[in-house]
Amino acid sequence: MSDGASRAIAILGGTGPAGMGLALRWARAGETVLIGSRDQQRAKDAAEKIREKIGSRASVSGVENSAACAASDILVLTVPFEGQATLLKQLKPAIRTGSILIDATVALAAGVGGRASRTLGVWQGSAAQQAAELVPKGVSVASAFHNLSAELLNGDEALDCDVIVCSDDASAAQVAFALAAKIPGVRAIDGGKLENSRTLEQITALLIGLNIRHKGHAGIRITGLPPAAYRTAVKP
Ligand SMILES: NC(=O)c1ccc[n+]([C@@H]2O[C@H](COP(=O)([O-])OP(=O)(O)OC[C@H]3O[C@@H](n4cnc5c(N)ncnc54)[C@H](OP(=O)(O)O)[C@@H]3O)[C@@H](O)[C@H]2O)c1
Repeated sequence: MSDGASRAIAILGGTGPAGMGLALRWARAGETVLIGSRDQQRAKDAAEKIREKIGSRASVSGVENSAACAASDILVLTVPFEGQATLLKQLKPAIRTGSILIDATVALAAGVGGRASRTLGVWQGSAAQQAAELVPKGVSVASAFHNLSAELLNGDEALDCDVIVCSDDASAAQVAFALAAKIPGVRAIDGGKLENSRTLEQITALLIGLNIRHKGHAGIRITGLPPAAYRTAVKP
């Protein structure tokens, strides 16, 4: 797509449920997806699983995270918060200038033995703002995809969920809007500055609590905005 998806989409930490679900949806939409992992074989196995689901026509491959960064300038980060900073520091030399990093990390307290329905305080304000501090100069960060259920992403049905995108960079936001709109059922909504990711990330903890309480796969829909606020298809 003009705002991102004709290039490969590299998903760093793409072997977990969130990354696999996004990879599946984007590969199904005809995008070229690189699944990144700390372990090349794990990445290859994950790519194979996706090809098994959608057929050999799928353009999906698995590579080590740094190779994924070297091969693409659209990076989606789907790792647990406890690994986010270390991984970004390791990958810094491999991330290309001009890349866009879309961060889906949520600082769940579960990562340090607490509850999954609670978040940790992050000094920078949010996991996405921490990512923005750690990427090389010339790399733009957007925050998105936190509120999509990985369970549903890995299924076949359209999702009943909106994706709010926060960024201080218009191009990064455009790429995130376009990627979100590739997922059936999803509407992308401009959520404003990257600092708003603090609230966005906390919604995930609330959704996890709702899932535990009601045994479901909760998502969010934003109502009451003018039609132009809802992006359901790639704009030229
Ligand atoms: N699950 C959901 O429904 C969901 C929805 C929205 C957002 N999120 C957020 O998205 C992120 C990923 O979620 P997930 O459930 O897919 O997580 P996950 O399964 O725990 O981790 C995803 C991948 O990250 C890599 N990883 C794990 N620990 C790491 C570390 N210390 N350093 C570097 N890489 C590490 C692993 O890949 P390798 O071992 O192959 O490197 C793992 O397969 C989290 O921040 C989560 O809060 C999750």
